[in-house]
Amino acid sequence: MASKREMALTYARDNRGRLIHDLFEFIRIPSVSADPDWNTLENAASWILQRLKAAGIQKTQIFQTDGPPIVYGEYQPVQSPICTVLLYGHYDVQPIDPLVEWVSPPFEPHIKGEELFGRGASDMKGQIIASIGAVEAILSQSNLPIAFKFLFEGEEEIGSPNLPRFLQEQRNLLGCDFALVPDTGMIAKDTPTITYGLRGLCCFELRVFGPKSDLHSGQYGGVVHNPAQALCELIAGMHDSEGRITLPGFYDRVLPISEDERKIWSELPQDDNGYKAQTGVKQLWGERGFSAAERVRVRPTLEVNGLLSGYTGNGMKTVIPACAMAKISMRLVPDQDPEDIKRQLIAYLEQQAPETIRWELEQMAGHPPSVVERWSPVIQSLAQALETVWYTAPVFEREGSSIPIVGMIKKYLGIESVMTGFSLPEDNIHAPNEKIHLPTWGRGIDALVHFFYNLVEKAV
Ligand code: BES
Ligand code: MN
Repeated sequence: MASKREMALTYARDNRGRLIHDLFEFIRIPSVSADPDWNTLENAASWILQRLKAAGIQKTQIFQTDGPPIVYGEYQPVQSPICTVLLYGHYDVQPIDPLVEWVSPPFEPHIKGEELFGRGASDMKGQIIASIGAVEAILSQSNLPIAFKFLFEGEEEIGSPNLPRFLQEQRNLLGCDFALVPDTGMIAKDTPTITYGLRGLCCFELRVFGPKSDLHSGQYGGVVHNPAQALCELIAGMHDSEGRITLPGFYDRVLPISEDERKIWSELPQDDNGYKAQTGVKQLWGERGFSAAERVRVRPTLEVNGLLSGYTGNGMKTVIPACAMAKISMRLVPDQDPEDIKRQLIAYLEQQAPETIRWELEQMAGHPPSVVERWSPVIQSLAQALETVWYTAPVFEREGSSIPIVGMIKKYLGIESVMTGFSLPEDNIHAPNEKIHLPTWGRGIDALVHFFYNLVEKAV
């Protein structure tokens, strides 16, 4: 007779078509948090709530916040559980611009070959459906002594500003043994990955003001300092010729790379040529003295995410703009702190900004980096599950990206996170033509089913 585990796997496979249909529906709700249409965020929240109910989750609830609603769900097994898993997801997605680059409309999902295209397919509506699908498969076989809690927020892509308050207010409700955060990816299609670290983030908008209105560049060129130029000069000064960031004290709290991590990353199937192929650049760039694999994981960076000034329409216009704006963000590594970084940026601007302009700085988001446990029975259960499905042991990864809840839930509730996911480097997350590789996604569902059974069989 087939074991419960095998029956759950069969159930998951038999229902794959329905899960793909669910993912289509979910992607069609354009839940962009950066530029919110509150209706779509609320629709996405109620869609998930209904989906949890359909999966057999007994208790579901919507919590209002000062931002998009949070969806909570809970399933208690009949017998007393050996552990409680808090499954996290974010139902919001990144903006779709530049729209002209999309081969087909971002909120009209479609499948081409082995890929499913649409905004959020990979980050992270696909991962949410995979996780719910795995839980549903397990519940279909009943009596696995695991309690499941679910927390879905709608503002991860803007730094989860309302999450700390929710976590603190609902600390009892959210009690669990660990959080499962399936919002990361694999380093390659055949390389299952467990992520144990994330960079932090600090986002700003910097505005530079010059003359009281736009000026004729013939009448006033050579007389006033062009704000676009002044802003570019400030930005250019934020790195030195070695690719290091010049904000005063920026590296003071950066921890050195451990020897074992340096060794692991030197052996990863991820070299400079791989980064060149993935990005299409002629040559790589970055801080001298570190490999590319190290620079994206454990070295901090400063990026310009957007620039706005002057005339950018068709043809030409001879103008000196009155103002210029840049969106700037820093990725932080242990033990950097977003509050320090803000002070350092202000100190840099106070020292470097010329008398010819006035500047304003606004902080948009900030949260510290996090590193989670790498050796625990839960991680072993997950590693074993990934190996069962991919026939190769997972690599342990520190991710250059950020997921705010991981640090917050540790800080406020003392809860450790376990991170994995089935997004691939070529999935174009945050970019036009986002997609998910369906065979990998399907393996991901199987791996999660194995993971939950492993947890019970190892009696964590
Ligand atoms: N899912 C990503 C994080 C991620 C990306 C993990 C790639 C692993 C591989 C997450 O949704 C994300 O994009 N986070 C933002 C957070 C920010 C806006 C606060 C990020 O890192 O930019
Ligand atoms: Mn994202």
